[in-house]
Amino acid sequence: MKTTKLIIVAGICIIAMMLSCKHEIPVLPGPPGEEDICFETEVLPIFQSYCAKSGCHDAATASDGYILDSYNNIMARGIDAGNAASSKMYEVLNEDGDDRMPQQPNDPLSAAQISTIAQWINEGAQNTTGCAPVCDSSSFAYSANVRPILQTHCLGCHGGSAASGGFIPLDTYDDVNAMVNANALLPAILHTGSYPMPKNSAKLSDCKIAIISKWIAAGAPNN
Ligand code: HEC
Repeated sequence: MKTTKLIIVAGICIIAMMLSCKHEIPVLPGPPGEEDICFETEVLPIFQSYCAKSGCHDAATASDGYILDSYNNIMARGIDAGNAASSKMYEVLNEDGDDRMPQQPNDPLSAAQISTIAQWINEGAQNTTGCAPVCDSSSFAYSANVRPILQTHCLGCHGGSAASGGFIPLDTYDDVNAMVNANALLPAILHTGSYPMPKNSAKLSDCKIAIISKWIAAGAPNN
């Protein structure tokens, strides 16, 4: 009798263990969390400003067959979703000499921009849109708030050596202030002047426009 009981108990234990194994939840990459990169607001503007330029990877030029102006076009080649290290698109950002993108004489992307792209690819290169705004227009200092917007959306064309190709520079405070004084900056970002900016891309978000507008209204200080 005792042995039978033992066998039954042991049997139940084994079945319970097998069941619990079967129902074990596999470890999957977590659902999108707060530190996930947003394609629409963080990645696309970098591609549009630094890569999808005339003579480079806009639709008309399509250098090497790469058009880098929209999610579908960006995903068409060179991105191994989930693995930045094996993605050509990431590799070229880190190359030396003539293989590097953006190509010389343009400056390389900043370390922060490169890591944003890497993180986005590693997170699955998703077409994340309509993301919660990470922008707060209650602060509008030049270095902390205005300059980062220009860096993401404008300096691909108006930065450092890119600007030497005939683009007006917006790199330094003095450069930007000169455009404010010429009353050219605000009409450009509001799309009310003859040069709607960023060129060939959507308008900046209302929040980003508010930051630049408030900074200009405050006298465009070098703060
Ligand atoms: C893809 C390239 C590109 C990007 C990105 C870009 N611009 Fe421009 N921008 C140009 C070109 C080219 C011109 C010269 C006008 C022309 O040839 O159409 C110009 C002209 C301007 C002018 C001069 C307007 C005038 O009235 O003289 C301002 C100011 C300006 N851009 C601001 C910006 C700002 C601010 C951003 C970012 C929010 C930006 N641009 C992003 C290409 C670009």
